Order: sequence, then structure tokens, then C-alpha cells
Amino acid sequence: MKLWGGNYETSPDAAFWEFNRSFPFDRRLLVEEVAASRAWVRALGRCGAIRSDEAETLDRGLETLLEKARADPKYLELDAEDVHSFVEERLGEIVGELAGQAHLGRSRNEQTVTALRLFVRGTIDELCKGVAGLVRALAAQGQAGADAVMPGYTHTRAAEPITFGHWAAAHAWGLVRDHERLRDARSRADVLPLGSGALAGAALPLDREAMARDLGFAAVSPAALDAVMDRDFAVEFVSCCALLQTHLARLAEDLIHFAGPEYGFVKLPEAFTTGSSLMPQKKNPDALELVRGKAARVDGDLVRLLALLKGLPAGYQKDLQEDKEAVFDAADTALGSVAVMTGVVAGLVPLRDAMRAAAGAQEMIAANLAVALAREGMPFRRAHHVVGALVGEAQKSGRSLKAVAAERLPAVSAAVAARLDALFDPLEAVKAKSLRGGAAPDAARASLDAALARVEEGG
Ligand code: ARG
Repeated sequence: MKLWGGNYETSPDAAFWEFNRSFPFDRRLLVEEVAASRAWVRALGRCGAIRSDEAETLDRGLETLLEKARADPKYLELDAEDVHSFVEERLGEIVGELAGQAHLGRSRNEQTVTALRLFVRGTIDELCKGVAGLVRALAAQGQAGADAVMPGYTHTRAAEPITFGHWAAAHAWGLVRDHERLRDARSRADVLPLGSGALAGAALPLDREAMARDLGFAAVSPAALDAVMDRDFAVEFVSCCALLQTHLARLAEDLIHFAGPEYGFVKLPEAFTTGSSLMPQKKNPDALELVRGKAARVDGDLVRLLALLKGLPAGYQKDLQEDKEAVFDAADTALGSVAVMTGVVAGLVPLRDAMRAAAGAQEMIAANLAVALAREGMPFRRAHHVVGALVGEAQKSGRSLKAVAAERLPAVSAAVAARLDALFDPLEAVKAKSLRGGAAPDAARASLDAALARVEEGG
């Protein structure tokens, strides 16, 4: 039986009924819907709207309903308009007509948003655990490779030597911010709408605070009309996922190149690659490419939600039923991507020799050389031009920058000329970047420790 129809003469058009049904996707909120319904019937019992033995029967009936769904996946294939009607109908099969009392004073407008808030809250907790795990994996790799010198890039051109630890810390910190953003968004999802009715509140002496405690919500919504239409928490959650996915895509993009034959800085764990149906030599970085590609999905989910909300008047509108799939898709994509990236990062094998060889490209020392000259008193802009001319001469003559510098610099700065061996050693060059946040091994270690502490303390 539908939850409505008393004043209807015809039944719904068959095509429209299918179009209208959200049960095919919102059945996913069954656990949340049952938890909220149990809190509701307990609250009805506490305020005397129903007898306490009735409340107990309904509460136990809801528990049984969930057990049935867990025991038999086919149970969830039974037809229903949405997850809320499904629960009421199945509850009727368990406790009889009393099931109708579970809806006393309650609107699906508040139910749907309550279930979605519970879902988002739970997903944020899961996602935060996943992100913390990925930061841990990056920190472990970065600590092990804190003194492994590699080229750092700007504009995809080798720029200055850095360390593998510095590279890992860079990616870890983006994720630390994602973790913080998710926790912050959680605080605004953690609000109970129940008691808002369809839009004006319930005409029952309900203890909303007790209901919030029952469901572990930190607060109750302060305005019923707002509570039934507010999807800010969903937008914030999907927005957090979109930014997280952007960071994962950037990490994936680096690794796709670093693991390729042109760089050869890392070996990917074989279990996260796939072969080619034609070319036997291939081990393609599909896991990373998919993480990069799936960032587009989550961006789409965010745009979908924002566009859905734009232009709606105040109150619940059926348009809002379209919110759930965007949230589910963002949640699934982010959780799956974090899990795959954690596996890839944990299984990476850094190839130090190749990194070091690439970091030995002498042009990357140019900036350091200019700084060394400036520290001996030459204005930096002049030093920049002097070193630029040395690089030009080296490139034209096919000689190494170091050889050209050894020839020309004694006339410019004897002190710098005397230190050329140390200046041209990429590890020495990177050790000089020892201030906080720098690429030096110790600075990279400290940065990784700090990143780890931030996600550990955040729980
Ligand atoms: N399935 C609906 C949704 O997801 C539930 C709320 C329906 N409310 C209503 N008055 N038709 O938004």
C-alpha cells in the first residue's frame, strides 16, 4: 500500500510511477532510515504520543526488519516508492496496523534528509580513516627516501634537485587539508532535522535533544523550513570529495610519469597494473589513470548538486530526490580511489639510482650557483645573468656547465670557484635547503612527521 492515496480516484500512471520511485537507489539508506525511525518511535513513546509498549513493539519490529534485510538480499527487491515507504510497509508485515503510528507527526521530507545526513556523517568517518591511511603510506615512503635525491619540476621541466621525501611530503599535505576539510564539513552534517515535520515542525511535545543524542547528532536543526531543504552539508561533502580527488589525480599523474620508462624513478606494484592485449611488454598504470579519470566524475557530481539547488524556492521540492545519487557516487568514487592509491603508494619501489642520475643534470644547479655568487656580494640579478651566460656557453659548446664554470668563475668569484665540487653535488645542493618546509632530508623528515601528526590527532 502507498503511504498516501485517500483522496485519489485513479492510480498513478505506470510510466510515471517508475519515474517517481527512488527506492532503486535510496534503498542504500535502509540502515540509516531504520536507525532514524527507531529514534522516532522511542521519542513518540517518551512524550506519550503513543504508549510505551507500542513504542517498544515498533522499535523491536524495526530491528527485526533490519535483520531480515541483512539475512536475505532479496528482501530489498520488494517493490516500494522509496526507502521510507519500504520501511513502513515491511514494518506493517511484522507488527500489523500499529506500523502506521511510526509515521505519526513525521514527514518524508525530514526523513530523507535525516537519513542522508547519517549517511554523509558515516562516510566522512570512513573517508577520513582512508585518507589518514594514505598519508601514513606516503609518510613511510617519504621517510625511507628522505635522502634520495631526485629532480623537482616546474612546467614539467627539471628545475632544482629535491628529495623523494620532499615530493612525498608535498602530496601528503594536500591530503592533510582534505582530512581537515572533511572533519569540518562533518560538524555541519551532524545536525538532526527530525521534528521539523513537512516544513513547520511537529505538533507533538517531542524531546528533539534526546532524539539527537539517540542518533549521536551533535545538535538539532534550528529552523524547520530550512531543515527540510538544506543540502549544504551534501554540497560541502561532495566538494571535499572533489578536491580530494583532484589531489589524488595529481599524485596519480606524477606517478604515471615517474613509473614510465622515460623517468624510471619508481616501480609500481604489479598488482595495480594491467597488461596489454596486443603488446606483451606492457604493464600499464591503469589504477592511476582511473583515479585521474574519476576525478571528472566527482566534479560532475558537485556541479549536478549545485545546479539542482539553484533556483529552488524555500521548502521541500521533489527535485531534491535527485540529491542522493550525486552524494553516493562521490562517496563511492572517493573511497575507492583512496583505497587504490594507498595500495599503489604502499607498494612503490623507489629507484634511487635513476633519481640521482636525473638529479645530476647540471643545469639544475644554475639557481644555486647564482645564489652562491650573490652571497659573495654580487647583486642577485647580475649573478642570474652571469650564470645564464655560463649555461648558454655550455649548451652551445656541448661542454658541461661545471667545466665552463670552472673556467670562467675564478675571474668572477674565487670563493665560489673554489666550492664548485660541493655546489655541483645534487645532495649537497639539496641539503642547503634546510629551512622549514625545504627539500633537505631533515626538513622533509620533519614535514612528513608533522603531516602524520595532523591526521593522527584528527582521529
Ligand atoms: N523519496 C523522497 C526523496 O528522496 C522522499 C521525500 C518525499 N516527500 C514527498 N513529500 N513526496 O526526496
